[in-house]
Amino acid sequence: MGTDARLLLLAIAASLLSPLAVADTPLCWDKGSYAANSSYAANIQRLAITLSQKAASSPTLFATATVGSLPDTVYGLTLCRGDINASSCENCVAAAFRQGLRLCAGAKEATFYFYDTCYTGGLASMFDAAVVALLNVTADHAAADTLKRFATGEVVADGSVPAIYALAQCTPDMTPESCRSCLADIIQRVPSSSSGTTSGGITGVRCNYRYELYHFFSGNPQLQGNHRALLRP
Ligand SMILES: *[C@@H]1O[C@H](CO)[C@@H](O)[C@H](O)[C@H]1NC(C)=O
Ligand SMILES: *[C@@H]1O[C@H](CO)[C@@H](O)[C@H](O)[C@H]1NC(C)=O
Ligand SMILES: *[C@@H]1O[C@H](CO)[C@@H](O)[C@H](O)[C@H]1NC(C)=O
Repeated sequence: MGTDARLLLLAIAASLLSPLAVADTPLCWDKGSYAANSSYAANIQRLAITLSQKAASSPTLFATATVGSLPDTVYGLTLCRGDINASSCENCVAAAFRQGLRLCAGAKEATFYFYDTCYTGGLASMFDAAVVALLNVTADHAAADTLKRFATGEVVADGSVPAIYALAQCTPDMTPESCRSCLADIIQRVPSSSSGTTSGGITGVRCNYRYELYHFFSGNPQLQGNHRALLRP
């Protein structure tokens, strides 16, 4: 999954270096598919509107957005060329989504380029992977904390995922091994257990975790990293 993420980012970087080569060419990534009237499809429609409006109202013509609850969370980013105005940017992103969704019908991940003036990418499974990777390293540190069996962490935002914050904790009387396996057990249920928005958590008797897209715990995160570093085996 880390490799696919890197390929996608490379594709975006390459397109910025040679924009004329990729005009109007959507790249449909082989990362699963969704049904036409699923909640995933509805979230993509909301994402298209949110991203075009956010990009147009941003001074940098850049925007990221996350829409919907797991497992149907969709995440996207868009960037308009620096020399176009806000209304052209909004029109470009909306048109890129219309054309791209038609040509990549049902593909869960795709990158669209439109008339060289904007590109946009939808990155759902990368977000889920970043959440699990963050919870995994946070659980490692909680298990190793001899005083409180507690840890906090943050995946820093970059072009491909938003900032994600997490905490993990066991009761302090647990051994490192039993704490880690307690956390592993509840972390593996992440996507199916999470409801509401792009946040989640499970409180067990002996251990618990929580993650959010905002800094919900006190103090600075004890761990911080780029999600690609966290995903490295
Ligand atoms: C939409 O969903 C309904 C059931 O929820 C189903 O019967 C119908 O075939 C679906 N339509 C399409 C176009 O997938
Ligand atoms: C934005 O740019 C487009 C294309 O150059 C132009 O037609 C439009 O009038 C501009 N809009 C504003 C508000 O400047
Ligand atoms: C998280 O840890 C579990 C084992 O506890 C492992 O199976 C899984 O691949 C890890 N996931 C990530 C994204 O690091």
